[in-house]
Amino acid sequence: MAQRMVVVTGGASGIGRAAVRLVGAAGVPVAVLDTDAAAARAAAEEAVAAGAPDAAGLRCDVTDEGSVQGAVDAARERFGAPPTGLVAAAGVDIGGPAHLLPVADWRRVLEVNLTGAYLAARCVVAALLDSGAGGSLVLCSSPAASVAFAAGGTGAYAASKGGVSALVRALAVDYAAAGIRVNAIVPGPTETALMWASVPEAERGAMRATLCAEVPMGRLADPEEPARAALWLLGPDSSYVTGSHLVCDGGVLAKGSVSV
Ligand SMILES: NC(=O)c1ccc[n+]([C@@H]2O[C@H](COP(=O)([O-])OP(=O)(O)OC[C@H]3O[C@@H](n4cnc5c(N)ncnc54)[C@H](O)[C@@H]3O)[C@@H](O)[C@H]2O)c1
Repeated sequence: MAQRMVVVTGGASGIGRAAVRLVGAAGVPVAVLDTDAAAARAAAEEAVAAGAPDAAGLRCDVTDEGSVQGAVDAARERFGAPPTGLVAAAGVDIGGPAHLLPVADWRRVLEVNLTGAYLAARCVVAALLDSGAGGSLVLCSSPAASVAFAAGGTGAYAASKGGVSALVRALAVDYAAAGIRVNAIVPGPTETALMWASVPEAERGAMRATLCAEVPMGRLADPEEPARAALWLLGPDSSYVTGSHLVCDGGVLAKGSVSV
């Protein structure tokens, strides 16, 4: 992978953590940014075990501009190079019908998923422009950006991911001339903590069965599957790809929702 250093937000868990391992296995230094500092450090150790020349786990809250800048600066100092890649995977899901969802929860979802992706992208773009290097940014959207889920209650999450998809297209056009590519992955239901965050424990078995019955491929994704899509977007094989969405959803978006 033609990257000098990759930043992964939300790299302590799930899709981000799988991306951290894959970037490491590709022989590239990786900075793991997450609110969970201990898990971020553990993820960095996994990256080194997978082949990364160096990796750092750094505490970072993506909703806080100073925290993002501080973590990226710390990574830059440690690795002696600015980031040339970003996987913005920090995310939360707080579900609920719009008239019942506390406004604070709406704001939280927008802050982490959309503003957090913007702040990370902003910081890495600034470092790239400063160094004159090209780079590749990968943001995490969702099928929820395009369709409403039958289970309902996804207004805040869907709005945040619709925002991420629009942001990807805008940034891609703004920075294409500077050699900075910006794309999204669109993971389908993936076996991570976030997947089950809004589902009460007692309902998870039934929901898993429903999902497996309805996803055309008949199963949830392993976190490494969307992470591999992110890795392709980071690397040189996607050199003419920008402003696009790489759907990795087991066929969810391809399927019409009416069973006739
Ligand atoms: N799992 C799915 O089915 C699925 C589907 C589509 C899109 N996505 C998206 O993929 C991305 C990764 O999700 P995941 O399923 O791996 O989730 P996950 O819960 O396994 O990991 C998310 C990580 O983000 C971190 N995080 C949360 N708030 C943060 C903050 N303010 N600052 C820094 N880090 C923070 C968490 O600590 C956690 O380590 C998210 O953007 C999510 O919306 C997930």
